[in-house]
Parts: sequence; C-alpha cells; structure tokens
Amino acid sequence: MEQRILLFISTVLVFLSPGVRGTFHLTFDTSGQVNISRSGCGVSKVCVETPSGCEPAGSGACLFTSVSSGASSPPNGTELSVELSGNSTGFVAMGLTANASQGTTLFFACAQNNGSIFFRTLSRNNTDNTVSAVETITTGIRLSLNGSLIQCEFTVPGVNASSTRSSDATTFAVVLATGTTNGTTLGPLEVALTSDPVNVANPSNASATMAPTTTTAGADSSFKPRAVLLLLSFVTLSVLKSA
Ligand SMILES: *[C@@H]1O[C@H](CO)[C@@H](O)[C@H](O)[C@H]1NC(C)=O
Ligand SMILES: *[C@@H]1O[C@H](CO)[C@@H](O)[C@H](O)[C@H]1NC(C)=O
Ligand SMILES: *[C@@H]1O[C@H](CO)[C@@H](O)[C@H](O)[C@H]1NC(C)=O
Ligand SMILES: *[C@@H]1O[C@H](CO)[C@@H](O)[C@H](O)[C@H]1NC(C)=O
Ligand SMILES: *[C@@H]1O[C@H](CO)[C@@H](O)[C@H](O)[C@H]1NC(C)=O
Ligand SMILES: *[C@@H]1O[C@H](CO)[C@@H](O)[C@H](O)[C@H]1NC(C)=O
Ligand SMILES: *[C@@H]1O[C@H](CO)[C@@H](O)[C@H](O)[C@H]1NC(C)=O
Ligand SMILES: *[C@@H]1O[C@H](CO)[C@@H](O)[C@H](O)[C@H]1NC(C)=O
Ligand SMILES: *[C@@H]1O[C@H](CO)[C@@H](O)[C@H](O)[C@H]1NC(C)=O
Repeated sequence: MEQRILLFISTVLVFLSPGVRGTFHLTFDTSGQVNISRSGCGVSKVCVETPSGCEPAGSGACLFTSVSSGASSPPNGTELSVELSGNSTGFVAMGLTANASQGTTLFFACAQNNGSIFFRTLSRNNTDNTVSAVETITTGIRLSLNGSLIQCEFTVPGVNASSTRSSDATTFAVVLATGTTNGTTLGPLEVALTSDPVNVANPSNASATMAPTTTTAGADSSFKPRAVLLLLSFVTLSVLKSA
C-alpha cells in the first residue's frame, strides 16, 4: 500500500514537471497509474520485447511494448492502446509501420530529462532513415519514471497506414528503440528490434508464431533483431512552455 501511494505521489510530481507538457496533439491522463506487465500477452495484446519473453513489471532489463486494438473508425483507422517500458537515462521508443523497408514508421517516445519525463511523436522515413517530428494525435498518455526505468501507456486514436499497403490495416511491423536525450532534445534513434508484421487485432494468432510461456528460446522466433544504429539527429517535437 505504501509503495502504491509513493508511486502515485511520484507520478503526480512527474506530471507537475515542466517537461511533461505537450502540444495540442498530446493529451495526458493523470487519473491512473502506469501498470505494465506481460499479463494479457498473446490474449488481449500483442507483445514485442527484448530479450525475448522478458517481464517489464518493475524491471529495467526488459525493453517491452504491447499493442492492442480497439474500435475501428474508417477512414481514420483503428484505435491502438500501447504500453512501453524500458531502461534508459534518455528515451525509449516504439514504432509502427506497414512495411519497415518502405514508407514511414510512426514513433512514440517516452523520454527523461534528468528525472522529469516527457513524450514525443516522431516519423522515420524507412527509405533513408531520416527522423522528423510529426504531430500524431495521441491520447490518454500516462508516464512513469523510477530512476532509469521509463514506463508509459498511451492510445493512438487512428493509425492510418492503409495508403501504402495491401495487407490488413491492423498489421504492423513493431519497432523498439532507445536513445539519449540532451535536455528535451532526443538523440539518434538506436533500433533494438524490428518485428515481422503482426496483426495487432489478433493477439492469439500472433502468439502462435511468437510462442509465449514456458521456453524463451522460441519466444520471438518470428522477430529479426536488427541492431542498426541510426546516426541521425532530429528536433524535438514540442517546445517547453516553461522558461
Ligand atoms: C523504484 O525502483 C526501485 C529499485 O528498482 C524499487 O525498489 C522501488 O520499489 C521502485 N519504486 C517504485 C515507486 O516503484
Ligand atoms: C496491474 O495489472 C494487473 C494485470 O492487469 C492487475 O492484476 C493488477 O491488479 C494491477 N495492479 C495495479 C496496482 O493496478
Ligand atoms: C539501466 O540503465 C542504467 C544507465 O544506463 C544502467 O546503469 C543500469 O545498469 C541499467 N539497468 C538495467 C537493469 O539494465
Ligand atoms: C476521424 O478523425 C477526424 C479528425 O480527427 C474526426 O473529426 C472524425 O470524427 C473521425 N471520424 C471517425 C469516424 O471517427
Ligand atoms: C515491403 O517493401 C519492400 C520494398 O519496397 C517490398 O519489396 C516488399 O514486398 C514489401 N513487403 C510487403 C509485405 O508489402
Ligand atoms: C540533475 O538533477 C540533479 C538532482 O535534481 C541535479 O543535482 C543536477 O544538477 C541535474 N543535472 C543537470 C544536468 O541538470
Ligand atoms: C523518403 O526518403 C526518400 C529518399 O530520400 C524520398 O525519395 C522519399 O520521398 C521520402 N519519403 C517520404 C514519405 O518522405
Ligand atoms: C486513410 O488512408 C486512406 C487510403 O489512403 C485514405 O483514403 C483516407 O483518407 C485516410 N484517412 C485519413 C484520416 O487520413
Ligand atoms: C546539449 O545541448 C546543449 C545546448 O543545446 C549543447 O551546448 C551541448 O553541447 C549538448 N551536449 C551534448 C552532449 O550534446
């Protein structure tokens, strides 16, 4: 109980910090606390993580994201609920793309600036790997920081990736990345893993190829880690309102 109260207080403090203020396209949710675990992986959400099968709850040694799909509202796309957890003194990020070798990848980054946490949305050109700020509407953003453990939850009301693909609009390659921050400026995106395309609307089918539970060896056999260091700089998306 005491721990939960402390967590709540620290979350409130985090939200009072200037770095957390976003721009118009970001909506924060201070009503609940971040609670990320493997619970529901392969049942209600698709999980992608490294090392494979790792448990993000309370552990920095696990770079983890989960995606679950909600209501579909054409032509805007399908609402996606995302969890992201990882260890960084800079930022952790997850990306969604229809095809990692063409088009663009939408990235969502949860970052810290010396103990205060903030959120950014970015876009990567998959052809030349340039990264730029993009104002992707994101709602229900919850942020949590404990030392170097960064955790966040958010909702993307509509990811419209149908323009460049023939596959299902809920099928994405999922990217996990980390990087450094300098103040509220994000450094280059260091991609840790790019998954094969997975239909986030069908987690149980996805888990058949991702094979969860007992062995970790085959857990993410469908994923091809691509330890690509992208030597790129990019501007931060939002400007702090504070001095
Ligand atoms: C923060 O992390 C430390 C060490 O990992 C842990 O002991 C502590 O319970 C965590 N605090 C909260 C509020 O979760
Ligand atoms: C966190 O989520 C798990 C599984 O969804 C749930 O069992 C647990 O009660 C939650 N913990 C808190 C503190 O909300
Ligand atoms: C987390 O990151 C910090 C700073 O980079 C590092 O010192 C620490 O060992 C990392 N912890 C884990 C569990 O990976
Ligand atoms: C699609 O998005 C636009 C702009 O955000 C919004 O006005 C519209 O209501 C949305 N349509 C549906 C069907 O959700
Ligand atoms: C992804 O893009 C590459 C290069 O444009 C193309 O060869 C490949 O067929 C695409 N894959 C899918 C599943 O669309
Ligand atoms: C980071 O925060 C610590 C503790 O609040 C402070 O002592 C230190 O000067 C800060 N460092 C920078 C670079 O702002
Ligand atoms: C991505 O980069 C390539 C090569 O620089 C360029 O031709 C293409 O137009 C860019 N795509 C987008 C969506 O910006
Ligand atoms: C989504 O993509 C489809 C196909 O390219 C397009 O017709 C539609 O206008 C797009 N919707 C939005 C909200 O961008
Ligand atoms: C961080 O940003 C400041 C101000 O823009 C700059 O002077 C400094 O060189 C940067 N530090 C690093 C390590 O890039």
